[in-house]
Amino acid sequence: MRKSVLLVCSLALLALCPACGDGSIRYEVAHTPTMGMSFWNAFQLNINEDLVKDQADAVVELGLADVGYKFINIDDGFQQPRDSAGNFRYNADLFPGGMRAVADYIHSLGLKAGIYTDAGDNTCGSENKYPYGLGTGLVGHEEDDCRLFFDEWDYDFIKIDFCGGQNAGLNEREQYTKIGNAIRSCEKKDIIFNICRWRYPGTWAEDVATSWRTTYDIRPWFSRVKYIIDENLWLQAYTRNGHYNDCDMLEIGSQWPGSDARLSHDEELTHMAYWCITSSPLIMGCDMRKVSQESLEVMMNTDLIAMNQDKLGLGAPVVQRSGEVYVVAKDMGAIMGPRRAVVVMNLSEEPSEIDVSVEALGFKGKIKLYDCFTHSYVEDCSPQTSFKVSLAPHASAAYFVTGKRIEKSRYQAEESYMKMFTTIEGIASPRYLQNNSADMGTYAAGLGYSPDNWLEWGNVYSRHGGDYVATFHYAAAAEAGFIVSVNGEEAGACECIIGGSDCDNWQTANIRIHLEKGLNTVRLGCPDGPMPSIDFMEIRKESK
Ligand code: GLA
Repeated sequence: MRKSVLLVCSLALLALCPACGDGSIRYEVAHTPTMGMSFWNAFQLNINEDLVKDQADAVVELGLADVGYKFINIDDGFQQPRDSAGNFRYNADLFPGGMRAVADYIHSLGLKAGIYTDAGDNTCGSENKYPYGLGTGLVGHEEDDCRLFFDEWDYDFIKIDFCGGQNAGLNEREQYTKIGNAIRSCEKKDIIFNICRWRYPGTWAEDVATSWRTTYDIRPWFSRVKYIIDENLWLQAYTRNGHYNDCDMLEIGSQWPGSDARLSHDEELTHMAYWCITSSPLIMGCDMRKVSQESLEVMMNTDLIAMNQDKLGLGAPVVQRSGEVYVVAKDMGAIMGPRRAVVVMNLSEEPSEIDVSVEALGFKGKIKLYDCFTHSYVEDCSPQTSFKVSLAPHASAAYFVTGKRIEKSRYQAEESYMKMFTTIEGIASPRYLQNNSADMGTYAAGLGYSPDNWLEWGNVYSRHGGDYVATFHYAAAAEAGFIVSVNGEEAGACECIIGGSDCDNWQTANIRIHLEKGLNTVRLGCPDGPMPSIDFMEIRKESK
C-alpha cells in the first residue's frame, strides 16, 4: 500500500550548473546583500529631513560609501495620516522639502534611497504609540503607494513591516505577494524589497522579495544578538539565488536610547562576522556623527565585507559544534573552489577552546589560514587535521581558508531546505529540532503528508559523477516512509523501521543513487503519509 503511494511521487527536474575544469562551479547572483544605513536603531521616530541628509553626508565623509554602504533607508516616522481621498502623505513639518527632494539629495551623493511602510493599515511605531502612521500602510493602496514611492519619489529600496498586517489578520503570503506584484508593475525597476515579518516567513518569500527579516528586533545587548544568531543557525539553506535572510540592522556603534547599553568590541566583531558570513544585509544602525573609530573599523573591515558581498550569495551552515561554540562556513568565489570563509563563535558565557577539524571545513591536507580580523596569514600554521581556536565569551575568529577540497560526504538535515518551512507562529510547518542524540545536536521533523512537505539538499556534489550509496539516518516512532529522488528522478523508497522514538533510536536506510558531475539535488518526501525524523544523509561512492 505504502509503496504504491510512494511511487506516484513525481518531481520537477532541476537544472544542473555547469562545472569548470577543476570541478568548481561559478555563478553570480543578481544582487549581493544590501549594504547601507537605517535610522530606526539610533533615532527611532525622531527623524527629519536635515538628520537624514546629515547622516547621508557622514556615510560619504567617513568612507563608508566607498566600502559598499550605499543605501540610506528612512524607517518609520516620516508619515502623516492620509488625506480624505486616501492619498498617502508625508509629514511636511519634518520633511519640508518633500520625500522626492530627500531621495534626490541622497542620489546626488552617489547613494541609493530607501523608504518604509507596513503591509497592513498602520506602521509599527504608530501601532505602538504614536498616531502619525495610522492608516498609512499599503493595504488597499498597494499600486498607488508603490507608484508614489518609486515612480514619483524615486526610492530604490523598501522595507515593509507587518504590525498593521498582523492586527488586521492579513495572510502574509497573499499580502506580500500582492505588494510584490505592485512593485513590479512600477516603471522603476530593480527595486530592493525587504519583508519585515520578524520570523522566517516561508519559502514563498523568495519569489516575492529580495530579503526577509527572520527574528524580532535587534538590541545593543548580546543576549539579543545571540538570539538572532541562534535562530539563524538552521536557516542557512533559505539564503540562496540572490535572496537573503535578514538578521536585522547592525547594532555596531549603537547605544540604546537613554541608556549606556552597548556591545563590547568582541561582541561587535562576532555580530559583524556572523552577519557577513551568512550574507545578511548589512544595514548600519548607529548615529554616524557619533560612532567611535573602533566601531567604524569593525563595520569597515573589508575582508568581512568581501565575505558578505561574495557573488555566490550563500548562507553559512554549521559544520562543527561543541556546546555553544559553533563553526560555520561557506564557499567563496566558486562552489567547491579552493577558498572558503569560516567563522568560529563562542556564544557561551565561558572562555572556550575548540579543535577545528580541517575535514569538517571541507579540506584535506595543508591549508592556509588568513585571519580576517588582523588581515594577515596565521603564521606557522600548516595544520594537517585540525587547529585550536581559543575564544573569550562572546568572541569569535574569522578566516579565509584555502587548500585542497574534498567531496563532502555528510549532509545534515539542519542544512537542508524544507519547502513548507516557516517560523511564523501558528502555522504547521516542519522543524529543525535540538536533541543530543542527533549528530551535531539537530535534526528535522514534521515532514510528509503533503506533496510539498519535503526536504532537500540542492548542493550534493560529485566531482566526476557516478553511482553512490546514500545512507539516511532517521528515527520513526510510528509507521513512516520516504521516497528519495535525485535531480527529479525517483531513486528508491524507505519503509521505516519503528524505533520507539522520533528523535532517538536512529536507524539507517541505504539507497543506491546516481549523481551527475557537479551539483545534484537529493529530495526526501512522502506525499500522503508521515516521514520519519531525519538526522543526516551520508554518501559513499561505489567502487567499480
Ligand atoms: C518594527 C521593525 C523595526 C522598525 C520598527 C518601526 O519593530 O521590526 O525594524 O522598523 O518596526 O516602527
